[in-house]
Amino acid sequence: MVAPKGACGLPVVATVAGLTRHLADARAQGASVGLVPTMGALHAGHLSLIARAVAECDVVAVSIFVNPLQFGDADDLAHYPRALDTDLDLAATAGATVAFVPAVEEMYPDGPGDMTTTVSVRDLGDRWEGASRPGHFDGVATVVAKLFAMAGPCRAYFGEKDFQQLAVVSRLARDLSFPVEVVGCPTVREPDGLARSSRNARLSPEERAAAAVLPRALRAGFDAMVEGEYRPAMVESRMVQVVEREPLARLDYAALVRAVDLSPAASLLDGGPFRLLVAARVGPVRLIDNLDPGEDLPAELAAGVPAQERGA
Ligand code: PAJ
Repeated sequence: MVAPKGACGLPVVATVAGLTRHLADARAQGASVGLVPTMGALHAGHLSLIARAVAECDVVAVSIFVNPLQFGDADDLAHYPRALDTDLDLAATAGATVAFVPAVEEMYPDGPGDMTTTVSVRDLGDRWEGASRPGHFDGVATVVAKLFAMAGPCRAYFGEKDFQQLAVVSRLARDLSFPVEVVGCPTVREPDGLARSSRNARLSPEERAAAAVLPRALRAGFDAMVEGEYRPAMVESRMVQVVEREPLARLDYAALVRAVDLSPAASLLDGGPFRLLVAARVGPVRLIDNLDPGEDLPAELAAGVPAQERGA
C-alpha cells in the first residue's frame, strides 16, 4: 500500500484507506500530522507550505491530485501541467514524509460528475472567483472536505495566494467541525512581484512580462490607500487603470474587500482588515493575486508604480 517511488524514496500512497491508516498509525505513535493539499506541478509557493508544515509537524503528507471537480473549463483541465516524478523529488527534498497520489477513480468511485453529496460554502464561495468560475469553489470545498475526512486530526496548510480559497476552506472546516487547524501561508513571488503559479508556465515571454501588471495594480491600490484615499471605488479605479494600460491583459475584477468575508468594502473609515484582490486574463490563462494593505509591503512589491501607469 505504501510504496517508495522514484529516486527520492518518498513513500507514495495511492488509496484512501492507505492514507487514513498511515496517518492514524503516525498519530498512535504520538506524531503530529501536517497536510499540504496540492494539484502538483510543485513550485516555490508549494514548497514554502511544505517547509512550514515540516517545521510545525512530525509527519507531513502532501497530496497531489488534479481535481476535475473544480475545473469548469475543460481546456484548463486538459492543459494543467503534470510532473509527478519531479514533484515527488521536490516534496521529499522539502521534507515531506509521505505523498498521497490517488487516481480520479479512487477519489470519485462513481465519477466526479456523479457525486450526489457535495460541499458548498454559501456567499463566500459565490463572489469574485466563484462568480467568474461557477462551481469552482464547490469542487474545491468538496475535495478538501474529503481530504480532511481522510487525514483526520491535523494542521492543513494553504497559501494566501488563493485568498478566497483560504477563506472558503477555513470556513468549511469550522462549519463542518473538522478536527483540522487551517494555516494560511504568505504568497511566494517572482523577483518582479508576480505570484508563483503553476499556470505561469503557459505564458509566452511577452505574456510573462505583461503578467507583472497584477502585482503592480495591487501596489497602485496600496499606494492610494497610503496616500489617504478612503473611497473603495477610487482605490479600485487606480488598480483598474494600471491593468487597462497593459495591452496583453484583460481585467476580470479589481476590488477592495473586507478580509473577513470578502464582501465589498463600503468605506475604509469602517475599519479593517481589508484585502485588495485582482484577477485578469493574460494570454491563455487567468491569473489572480491579492494583497493585505495592512501589512508591510512584500519586498518584491516595494518598487513604485511608474507615474504613467498611475495616470499621472
Ligand atoms: P494548487 O494550485 O496546486 O495549490 C496548492 C496550494 O499551494 C494552495 O494552498 C495554494 O494557495 C498554494 N500556493 C500556490 N501558489 C502559491 C504561492 N505563490 N505562494 C504561496 N502559496 C501558494 O489550490 C489548489 O492547488 C487546489 O485548489 C487544492 C486546494 C489542492 C484543492 O484541489
